[in-house]
Amino acid sequence: MFELKNAGKEFQQRWLFKNLNLTAHAGDFISILGPSGCGKSTLLRILSGLDTVSEGSFSTSSQDPSGFVFQESCLLPWLNVFENVALGATQRQGRDSHAAITKILEVVKLTDAAQLFPRQLSGGMKMRVSIARALVNNKKILFMDEPFAALDDFTRFELQDELLEYWRQYNMTIFFVTHSLSESVFLSQKLWLFPQGQQKTFQEWVLEKPSTAANSYRNSAEYFQTVTTVTEHLRVKK
Ligand SMILES: Nc1ncnc2c1ncn2[C@@H]1O[C@H](COP(=O)(O)OP(=O)(O)OP(=O)(O)O)[C@@H](O)[C@H]1O
Ligand SMILES: [Mg+2]
Repeated sequence: MFELKNAGKEFQQRWLFKNLNLTAHAGDFISILGPSGCGKSTLLRILSGLDTVSEGSFSTSSQDPSGFVFQESCLLPWLNVFENVALGATQRQGRDSHAAITKILEVVKLTDAAQLFPRQLSGGMKMRVSIARALVNNKKILFMDEPFAALDDFTRFELQDELLEYWRQYNMTIFFVTHSLSESVFLSQKLWLFPQGQQKTFQEWVLEKPSTAANSYRNSAEYFQTVTTVTEHLRVKK
């Protein structure tokens, strides 16, 4: 569905990556990890079609509508929550749009905040508005660039749980950039790891985990073991 073949990307003769061969399928939840400046956002933009590879190829057979969710929630300050979500509802009209927004605000638990303006919202609420904006148009593919980075742990856990629920419920495909190994292990089935730690090459990890991973998985021995295994792997020179 998404395929990079011998893909490379350079900016001003500096190669961010070369010879990348990666495949993603419909329904995948993939986390992209690596140190600051390594090219995570660039890779995300290439996957979404906003940027192109410098060599090799990128192809996708997907016709599904896709949406971006950024670290900053990118809300318009002069519009309230309802109106900000309505901005995303471009493919719907009139009453249809009103009903869809009302429904999606319920899903992201913002019904009571519908009339509030961005300055009156917490970081977690703003992020929910961003996610609602993507959901309201039935976006099947989400490109998320460190969406939860600015949130405290408990809000982040809550939103991670919710995101997993949306992913399952709406059969989404999610590409998720994060700096957090533990977050990526909790959320995704596959890790795409830029060179970091002692590892000098790009790596792909497929995670074995229960298909219903939820809050209980976060506290399980299995989860801690996987985080430790991946961390150790990055620490040890090959
Ligand atoms: N349009 C551009 N023109 C020139 N250089 C660019 C462009 N976009 C990104 N870069 C450079 O490519 C490198 C990777 O940028 P990118 O934003 O993909 O990194 P990142 O892994 O997302 O970093 P961070 O974790 O800090 O968000 C950086 O050195 C950046 O300066
Ligand atoms: Mg980035």
